[in-house]
Amino acid sequence: MTQDRLSEKRFVSEQGLTVAPFRAVDSLADLEAAVAALGRPSVLKTRRFGYDGKGQVKILPETDLAEAYEAIGGSPAVLEGFVTFAREVSVVAARGADGSFAAFDLCENEHRDHILAFTRIPAQVSAATEAAAIEAARRIGAALGYVGVFAVEMFVVGEGAGESVVVNEIAPRVHNSGHWTSEGAQTSQFHQHVRAVCGFPLGSAARRGRVEMENLIGDAALRWRDLLAEPGAHLHLYGKREARPGRKMGHVTRVVPEQG
Ligand SMILES: Nc1ncnc2c1ncn2[C@@H]1O[C@H](COP(=O)(O)OP(=O)(O)O)[C@@H](O)[C@H]1O
Ligand SMILES: [Mg+2]
Repeated sequence: MTQDRLSEKRFVSEQGLTVAPFRAVDSLADLEAAVAALGRPSVLKTRRFGYDGKGQVKILPETDLAEAYEAIGGSPAVLEGFVTFAREVSVVAARGADGSFAAFDLCENEHRDHILAFTRIPAQVSAATEAAAIEAARRIGAALGYVGVFAVEMFVVGEGAGESVVVNEIAPRVHNSGHWTSEGAQTSQFHQHVRAVCGFPLGSAARRGRVEMENLIGDAALRWRDLLAEPGAHLHLYGKREARPGRKMGHVTRVVPEQG
């Protein structure tokens, strides 16, 4: 269900959660009608196989719709209204077969060129917004009968008392925005996943301090010597031989203990 953006969006809105306005697009005529309905800017996404912004085209005031449809290969697609978000966040959580549920603290995510660049915890949102985000993930996990670690990516819109979350997508797996848990939480997302799928008790998702995870994309991984020399920086390299632009080569996590 989560492999197809259209079924995913329908499912999430059936849970009473907010998603960006969307329309199915199976032809150029559908795209023209969808853009007339949702306006510009909007985002055209293939229903399947997209990641790190691949399979997506932003429809701007000047965008030619035939070219945009061609750019995604004329694949079955969805058009989404553009969400003017204040920030992006994700909930990384585990659900056990017995219905047990443990969410890590809300992650705040900064993307560059549609690729996750930084994750910071705690997220700069109200306690009520964090609780609403975690409740949305709990509801999604329960409705799917999901077992294991999963992530729900969300947009935060509005501010102050008007702050709320819009669900963007579900990742049915450990997630890049949860990589910080290896050093920054009592239980890493990877250990937590194994606990969940083995039917073991879930571990504590408590945080060990203020945490920042930085993705090393392309040539950024060449800084590895400096990162190793930095006190308290935890370096992870994935062993990919070639550092192509936009390719995730590793990440570095910094944990600053909080006082008191
Ligand atoms: N409807 C939208 N409104 C605003 N920004 C969007 C929208 N859809 C995607 N984006 C931006 O593009 C990024 C990647 O899109 P996403 O749907 O998460 O696809 P994927 O992560 O599978 O490439 C999002 O994290 C967000 O920064
Ligand atoms: Mg995404």
